[in-house]
Amino acid sequence: METLNPVFTLRDVGVILAGREILAGLNVEISKGAATFVMGRSGSGKTTFLRILNRLNECFPGCRTTGEVLLHLDDRVVRTYDDELPLPELRRLVGMVFQHPNVLPMSIENNIAMPLVTVHGFTRGQAREAARMALEEARLWDEVSDRLGADARTLSGGQQQRLCLARALAMNPQVLLLDEPTSSLDYTAAKGIEELLTSLKGRYTMVVVSHGADFAVRQADDILVLRDKTIHGRLAPRDIEGSDSALRERLESF
Ligand SMILES: Nc1ncnc2c1ncn2[C@@H]1O[C@H](COP(=O)(O)OP(=O)(O)O)[C@@H](O)[C@H]1O
Ligand SMILES: [Mg+2]
Repeated sequence: METLNPVFTLRDVGVILAGREILAGLNVEISKGAATFVMGRSGSGKTTFLRILNRLNECFPGCRTTGEVLLHLDDRVVRTYDDELPLPELRRLVGMVFQHPNVLPMSIENNIAMPLVTVHGFTRGQAREAARMALEEARLWDEVSDRLGADARTLSGGQQQRLCLARALAMNPQVLLLDEPTSSLDYTAAKGIEELLTSLKGRYTMVVVSHGADFAVRQADDILVLRDKTIHGRLAPRDIEGSDSALRERLESF
């Protein structure tokens, strides 16, 4: 499954967690600048698939990733699992927003500024400016600009999700991994996140795990379906458009 302008190339990639093969035989390219959706039933390995791309599966003891993952940068191609890119740099370039917002127990501003200072050597002033820009990009600035010192845990679920997205954006990533970004939110908050994703489309390569066929039809350029430990199919949004599609029903019944 090749594309013209890939950002990632996976060659025969597999993941073993706790002695169990979770994913195997993944051969796929992810297009640069596109929104690629990953769908499949619960437990099919969607989150594990995202974690391949930023090497986060390796946080689990005993995890083994096999095969080859190539990341296509502007000036070169690196094999991420051969340590051709330092891990902090890979995680900066490939930002991730988790299914449940993981805000840090500190102020709204420091949720973004602190990692920039401690990991990336920003001055305090640079980090504050970057935080403001990221909050604007994540469409949160107007809601929090008068209480940047407040504890981030006092924000609503949708605001926390946007804060986590702002934290990833502040790192100036090339790829955003979004794991079911609207699943823990109510209708209005989910709609807000979807509008935000629309505004980010084209500017970032996005890999989005989603359960909702409607969401995918509206937002995806490309849909990967995981089943039986591997990529079972690749669909264009038009394939699942229309209310009478059996495929669409199957996708939504997960
Ligand atoms: N850290 C882990 N250790 C062991 N097994 C795991 C771990 N994370 C996920 N799994 C297993 O891998 C499979 C795929 O999980 P996951 O990628 O979370 O699926 P999905 O996101 O599609 O629901 C599940 O069977 C799950 O139990
Ligand atoms: Mg998951």
